[in-house]
Amino acid sequence: MTETEAFDYIIALIYERCGIRLHDGKHHLIRARLGKRMRHYGINSLPEYCEFLQNKAGEDEITHVVDALTTNFTHFMREEDHFKFLVSQALPTLMEKQPKRFKVWSAACASGEEPYTIAFYLMEHFATMNGWDWQILATDISTKALSKAQQAIYPNDRLESVPPEWMRKYFQRGINAWADYCRVKKTITERVRFKQLNLLGTYDFNDSFEVIFCRNVMIYFDRPTQEHLVGQLCRRLVPNGYLLVGHAESLTGLNVPLRCLKPSIYQKQ
Ligand SMILES: C[S@@+](CC[C@H](N)C(=O)[O-])C[C@H]1O[C@@H](n2cnc3c(N)ncnc32)[C@H](O)[C@@H]1O
Repeated sequence: MTETEAFDYIIALIYERCGIRLHDGKHHLIRARLGKRMRHYGINSLPEYCEFLQNKAGEDEITHVVDALTTNFTHFMREEDHFKFLVSQALPTLMEKQPKRFKVWSAACASGEEPYTIAFYLMEHFATMNGWDWQILATDISTKALSKAQQAIYPNDRLESVPPEWMRKYFQRGINAWADYCRVKKTITERVRFKQLNLLGTYDFNDSFEVIFCRNVMIYFDRPTQEHLVGQLCRRLVPNGYLLVGHAESLTGLNVPLRCLKPSIYQKQ
């Protein structure tokens, strides 16, 4: 296998597994991110590693490749207007004539900051002690990101955007060796169910959601893949449910049953 064939192989593998198109300009990124895996096996060249993937490695190694090449950047309170819209408009409108029960899906949750931010907002506005019953499903393709999310432990410098009052209410400060970290409290973590899921595969659950957050993942997909994904998400929304996408993402031109309320905020028709 030549160097070019090796890059093509990785690019095709990631497209097939995650729908993400790594363009030719990403050769540097591929080499940098797979370097650790290659060193792990004492392999010196990308073609050799690809031959190993093709012939000897199992699903576990493919999972490592997916973990290494997906971009998991996220942070608490990211694109905060969405959380405010959730609690001040989306849910109050949907819950007008409903029992006090709803579900929210964080559909590319990365290391957990997004679903936990949703949970903080929901605790503030739809407190379970006031009779509200809600659950958050949080999914991602990356097992590495999900394992961080489930640990719910974050370094203090990643928590600067969280208001001090919420830090006191929803986080436990670490002590001794853990002094530089905080952990999300159980009152929050018990409301979030994590699950590995490829958004482009089949979904092995039947839930419907009042609101779906699918932010900053579609940007990596081509238009047909986006249309397919948004169609799948719409089938999981309740009538008049809301889909929130990243600020840099737009669904304009896709043939999907949604109307745009404002940039990045859509409602099922
Ligand atoms: C940039 S992060 C976005 C995190 C969060 N939604 C936010 O906006 O801050 C993108 C996430 O999408 C996940 N991802 C990429 N392709 C995926 C796929 N096909 N199915 C599910 N998750 C995927 C990545 O693993 C990564 O954690």
